[in-house]
Amino acid sequence: MALKITVIGTGYLGATHAAAMAELGFEVLGLDVVEEKIDMLRRGEVPMYEPGLEELLRRHVAGIEGSTGRLRFTTDYAEVAAFGDIHFVCVNTPQRHGEYACDMSYVDAAFASLAPHLTGAALVVGKSTVPVGSADRLAAYLAEHAPAGADAELAWNPEFLREGFAVNDTLRPDRIVVGVRSEKAEKLLREVYATPVEEGSPFVVTDFPTAELVKTSANSFLATKISFINAMAEVCEAAGGDVAKLAEAIGHDDRIGRKFLRAGIGFGGGCLPKDIRAFMARAGELGADQALTFLREIDSINMRQRGQMVELARQALGGGPFLGRRVAVLGATFKPDSDDVRDSPALNVAGQIHLQGGQVTVYDPKGMDNARRLFPTLGYAESALEAVRGADIVLHLTEWREFRELDPQALGEVASRRLVLDGRNALDPELWRRAGWTYRAMGRPTA
Ligand code: UDX
Repeated sequence: MALKITVIGTGYLGATHAAAMAELGFEVLGLDVVEEKIDMLRRGEVPMYEPGLEELLRRHVAGIEGSTGRLRFTTDYAEVAAFGDIHFVCVNTPQRHGEYACDMSYVDAAFASLAPHLTGAALVVGKSTVPVGSADRLAAYLAEHAPAGADAELAWNPEFLREGFAVNDTLRPDRIVVGVRSEKAEKLLREVYATPVEEGSPFVVTDFPTAELVKTSANSFLATKISFINAMAEVCEAAGGDVAKLAEAIGHDDRIGRKFLRAGIGFGGGCLPKDIRAFMARAGELGADQALTFLREIDSINMRQRGQMVELARQALGGGPFLGRRVAVLGATFKPDSDDVRDSPALNVAGQIHLQGGQVTVYDPKGMDNARRLFPTLGYAESALEAVRGADIVLHLTEWREFRELDPQALGEVASRRLVLDGRNALDPELWRRAGWTYRAMGRPTA
C-alpha cells in the first residue's frame, strides 16, 4: 500500500514539501496551527510568492477542479497522527529575539502536540534547521511521550531548498541527506525519495548529528563564499581592481567554482544570517566555539557591506548629509524571485538612508506589500520608472531580471541626475554608461 505522508507546518518549506510529495504520487495531509493559512491552502492559494508553487499545489489540492485530490489540509493533530505513516516536521526555527541562538519553540510545540497521538508505528522526520543535538533530544522525547514507544521513530532529513527555486529544489534535490537510527527508517525514506534518486539525486545516509550539521555547515560555507568575495571587493576598491573580473577568473578554477561569488551588499533572508549565528551559539554550548570564530567575521563583513553601500551613495552625491536628497531604491526583497523581505540588505540600506534624512522611494516587483508592512515610513512607487522620477541617485539593491532589462535611456530622461550605484554587480555598466549614466559598483573601478 502506498505510503501516507503528513507535513507539519505549511510555511515556505512545508507548503513546498507537501505539494512535492503529492506530485511524487503520495497521499498527503498538511497541518498548520494558523487557520487562515490552512484556509488559503485549501483554496489552492500560496501565502507567499514562489515561482511554480501555486500551480503545483493546485494540481493536487482536493476540491480543486481537475486536481488529483491527493493533498488535503487540517489543523488537527489527531487527524494527522491517524492518517500518516510518515510525519515531516517543517516548522520554522527563527533567531531568538536579541540572541544568536535558534528558537526551538515551534519544533518543540509540534512534537508535544503530535507525540501523544502516536499510538501505532510511525516515522517522524525532522526537516527544520536545528542546532546539532536536537534530534537526539527529540528522539528521547518521542520515546517517552508517544504511546507507541519505540514504534514511533525519529529520522532527520535536512532541507536545502532555495527561495525562488523551491519547487525544482524539492523535486530534484542536489542531494538527499538522511540521519537514521534503523534500517527500517532508511528503507521508508528511500521509498519516499525513490523518484528523485532514480533521476540522479545522491542519497546520503548518516547519523543524527551529521545530518543536522550538513545543513548548518553548507549554509556557513555559502555565507563564507559571499563574505570572502565581499572582502575581496573591499581590497579591490582600495587597490583599484575589479572584483567582478577577479570573481570570474578565480571561478574558472573548478575547486573554487563560479557560483556564490557575486560581490555586493551581501546576504540576507530567513536562513543564512540566522543559521550562522545559531551555529556559533551552539558551538559555544558544545565547548567548540573556537572552531567557529571565523563565522563572526563572516557575519560582520556581511553587515558592513550595507553600511558601505550607504557611504558609497553619500560620496557619490558629493558627501555630507542625505537631507533633501531623493534616492530611488530598486529592490526590496533579500533576493530576486521571492517576496521575502526578512533581513533584506536592500531594505536595510533604504532604511539607513531614510533615517539620515534622505527621501527614499522603493520599488520591487513582488515585495512591495511585505516591505510596506515592515518599513511603513519609506516612500514607495508602482514602477521602476516612477521610483526613478526626480531621483538624484538610483540604487540597484536586488537583482531582479526586470531591473537588468530596464532602458537606462528612458530612466535618464526622468531622473534628476544620471547616477546609478549597483549594489549587486548585476547591471551592464556599458549599457548605463552609454546612456550617459555615471555607474558605480562596490569593488569596481569608477570609469
Ligand atoms: C539559502 C541556501 O542557499 C539554501 O540551500 C538553504 O536551504 C536556505 O538558505 P536562500 O536563503 O533562499 O537559500 O538564498 P540564497 O540563494 O542562498 O541567497 C542568500 C543571500 O545571499 C541573498 O541575499 C543573495 O542576494 C545573497 N548572495 C548570493 C550574494 O550576495 N552573492 C552571491 O553570489 C549569492
